[in-house]
Amino acid sequence: MATPRNLIVFLRILVAAEYTGTTRSIAIIPLMQGRQLTPLDKLLAGANNALRTVAAPAGLSARENPAVDIPDVDLSKTQKSHAAGLMRVNHAGEVAAQGLYQGHATVARDPAIEDQMQRAADEEFDHLAWCEQRLGELGAAPSHLSPVWYAGAFAIGAISGVLGDKWSLGFIAETERQVCAHLDSHLAALPEEDLKSRAIVKTMRDEEQEHGENAKDAGAAELPGPVQHLMRVTAKVMTKTAYWL
Ligand SMILES: [Fe+2]
Ligand SMILES: [Fe+2]
Repeated sequence: MATPRNLIVFLRILVAAEYTGTTRSIAIIPLMQGRQLTPLDKLLAGANNALRTVAAPAGLSARENPAVDIPDVDLSKTQKSHAAGLMRVNHAGEVAAQGLYQGHATVARDPAIEDQMQRAADEEFDHLAWCEQRLGELGAAPSHLSPVWYAGAFAIGAISGVLGDKWSLGFIAETERQVCAHLDSHLAALPEEDLKSRAIVKTMRDEEQEHGENAKDAGAAELPGPVQHLMRVTAKVMTKTAYWL
């Protein structure tokens, strides 16, 4: 029977060959940089990115996994399960980051800002690949709700982008600020012995901070307090759910 889970498995198989075993960075507009893009180009590129993010294995990252040289240690069953839950949450966050940056880039008005989002999205895709690799090592799988996280974040990105680049950048700056706080909490919560997960989360945290600072430097507007609150509530729902599902 065609359940949502079966559909995801099918899509994973369908597009896996495109990038399993190859070193590449995911492009918001793959293979089309250097020419003026039509709205249809952007739509198709966006659909391609969405499929690559939610329906296929992340494959190799463009940059080396920060945990590659760290030896794995034996974790207890409880530690392993907790680390897997936390890394699944982080993976879901990276799926949402792809949606957010993709949504912004689709409607960005300033080419320099679109470029900046492309660079950030490339780094976010490395984060996605590193989290997925670690989940595999822990014997766990990504969230089954990845399409939901992606679609929700894409909608937020596109809507804020339509309001103008300064609001779009404002969303990025606030999101990255909240993500940094969230990753700090994970560094405190991950088992001390799980040095591999910790190395990945630490690198991600440093880069999220840089993304946030870049957005501020590019002219991010400060979001109203109620919007910031709504973002925190939404993120909480996502993190609580993705730990288990
Ligand atoms: Fe990230
Ligand atoms: Fe980021």
